[in-house]
Amino acid sequence: MTSVLFVCLGNICRSPLAEGLFVHQVAKAGLSHQFSADSAGTGDWHAGELPDPRSRAVAAKHGVLLPSLARQITPRDLVSHGYILCMDRQNLANVAALGPVQGELLLLGQFDPQGVHEVPDPYWGTDADFEAVFQQISRSTSAFLAHLTGAR
Ligand code: 4NP
Repeated sequence: MTSVLFVCLGNICRSPLAEGLFVHQVAKAGLSHQFSADSAGTGDWHAGELPDPRSRAVAAKHGVLLPSLARQITPRDLVSHGYILCMDRQNLANVAALGPVQGELLLLGQFDPQGVHEVPDPYWGTDADFEAVFQQISRSTSAFLAHLTGAR
């Protein structure tokens, strides 16, 4: 089983979408026995909360479930995932500053076929920003899954 942790700042907008999309795509590919996913925030302000209503709305519109409640990343996370995929460079720097990571610590956007390396924070944005972030994350998690499975 390969475990993937998706990380953003608050764990209410971007990383819950990445987790939900990856789980959705893994299930569609019939690979749920091979890959598991979780998400976390570098900050703790929203711990225990449901994802942002705008993330829930865009996910529901596309038939994607967002299963987890917000939580802050823990020291244990650094050594319990094969991949820690961050939404932006600040998230990545904040995770790296927590200590050595056992798996691979990368930007999710590294896998974006359109080459957009950071997922912008939509928190202060509009519904259209959430839709754009959804599409960006979706194509990136899909390409990441293809990378994991060696598909072309
Ligand atoms: P996220 O978005 O990192 O994608 O979950 C944010 C959520 C909350 C805040 C910032 C970004 N905040 O400042 O509370």
